[in-house]
Amino acid sequence: MAVFGRKGSRGGSLFCFRPGAALLLLLGLAWGWTGAGAAPAAAVASAHPLATAAGHEVLEAGGNAFDAAVAVSAALAVVEPYGSGLGGGGFWLLHRAADGREVMLDGRERAPLAAHRALYQDAAGEVIPGASVDGPLAAAIPGQPAALVHLAERYGRLPLSRSLAPAVRLAREGFPVDAHYRRYAGFRLEVLRASPAAAAAFLVAGEVPPEGHLLRQPELARTLETIAARGREGFYAGPLARRLVEGVRAAGGIWSPADLEAYRVVERMPVRGRYRGMRITAAAPPSSGGVALVEMLNILSGYDLPALDPVTRAHLVVEAMRRAYRDRAEYLGDPDQVAIPVDLLTDPRYAAGLRAGIRKDRATPSSGLPGAAAEPDGPHTSHFSILDREGNRVAATLSINYPFGSGFMVPGTGVLLNDEMDDFSAKPGVPNVYGLVGAEANAVGAGRRPLSSMTPTFLEQDGDVAILGTPGGSRIITMVLLAALEFAHGSRDPVAWVTRPRFHHQYLPDRLQLEPGALPAEQAAALEQRGHVLDPRDRPWGNMQAILRSAATGAVSAASDPRGIGSAEVR
Ligand code: DON
Repeated sequence: MAVFGRKGSRGGSLFCFRPGAALLLLLGLAWGWTGAGAAPAAAVASAHPLATAAGHEVLEAGGNAFDAAVAVSAALAVVEPYGSGLGGGGFWLLHRAADGREVMLDGRERAPLAAHRALYQDAAGEVIPGASVDGPLAAAIPGQPAALVHLAERYGRLPLSRSLAPAVRLAREGFPVDAHYRRYAGFRLEVLRASPAAAAAFLVAGEVPPEGHLLRQPELARTLETIAARGREGFYAGPLARRLVEGVRAAGGIWSPADLEAYRVVERMPVRGRYRGMRITAAAPPSSGGVALVEMLNILSGYDLPALDPVTRAHLVVEAMRRAYRDRAEYLGDPDQVAIPVDLLTDPRYAAGLRAGIRKDRATPSSGLPGAAAEPDGPHTSHFSILDREGNRVAATLSINYPFGSGFMVPGTGVLLNDEMDDFSAKPGVPNVYGLVGAEANAVGAGRRPLSSMTPTFLEQDGDVAILGTPGGSRIITMVLLAALEFAHGSRDPVAWVTRPRFHHQYLPDRLQLEPGALPAEQAAALEQRGHVLDPRDRPWGNMQAILRSAATGAVSAASDPRGIGSAEVR
């Protein structure tokens, strides 16, 4: 059932649309398209129109997709301070057209060297509520500044100062506060008030600023200029580094100069897989995204999903989610510190074994799977997708974790720090803010990178290319899965991928989360009869940004999730 125009699509949707999705569309769908025969097009899809414009500005100044990625990342740091920023990190998945090189830039934050496994536990071994979420003790060493420098120096064509120019301008001249900003600032009001620098930057007289208020960040503009002038050293050494360490320590944090000096971006091989002739290239550990995505698709490759009735189809997808999230909890963590069986977990034969345990008529209780050791969400964290005229691609998901990260801004720097330390398992089996549980593999440890769910992804089938990803905490991977299934089963419409209603299962808690309108009532009831515990939510989740290039026509189309305020533009 196509409720909306599906220009450019081939084949129907694997899961039908519900009226709830039509409502979402009214919230602001953006997409662009250029037809066959036109000059090659470039596309940028991001969570904020000013960031999308920054990307196109740099492309039009002669930059490639990698320069544009620097511009979009930095602009998002300014206009979406609740989602990502210089005080955070992320994964940039790159495809270089000239030689086909594909790499994942791991700019994930690292635990400070003084961190240890009981950092967030009290003397009795109980997890201290909020300790890994609010304030400077929750902040890991940022990776985004190093990643932007690396991107520009190794892959870009323009000087960093040019790619960072739009962000510097936005920070200095200001951007208008929107409803999203107000919602997240309201949600994190108390922690922002607790940090004088954050309160001065993000609040007006201690209150959430009104919509339309021009938010200027002159200190952040100066920090961006320092990075533009001095590169990596500008942030990780010298006066700014001293200020960062002193500011964190004065407020009760545990950073040291050695933490900043030691921070390095790592280039990693992306995780790869295949599903029905579709090639998957996605984030590698320390993200769990690619591994879990490929594992789920491998399990599902044993079924002819389009031939099944919708209830059985959804049931099998949920069972695949359950199993992959169990393995996530058990095995995944920082690949530099723990041995992760990536080859095994992404092997189709392993998936076949898991598939053998799935009953078509009955849900497997999560307690019935071999045990590993429970979730808010929202459009904080940020994904963008870029394709330039030469065919270079970037899919990047960036984060400071919770809305406005730790809420702590280092005085005099404009840098709001992340609370990515909460992505560790503070104690085996104790859920984090996303309800995710973890084991030994993701314990807090000095210099470790916390396990992530961020899943920047490329999909290819019959020469058609999709570039996509989304924020959404633990639900990121299942959102990408649902979009990948749409693509694999013939949908060639990014609008359909980003608008489709979503459901999610993450092993524990053993519940099937449903977006409003995700399934018709009778299908939901049928799933309940098969033993699934339904958990209908009153809010939608995610903020997917997607681009498609068609092999046959060269046409490029793009879409920005109507759940957010982003924009997708093809030029
Ligand atoms: O890396 C991760 O998996 C999390 N820090 C992502 C957080 C997120 O997506 C929040 N957005 N809703």
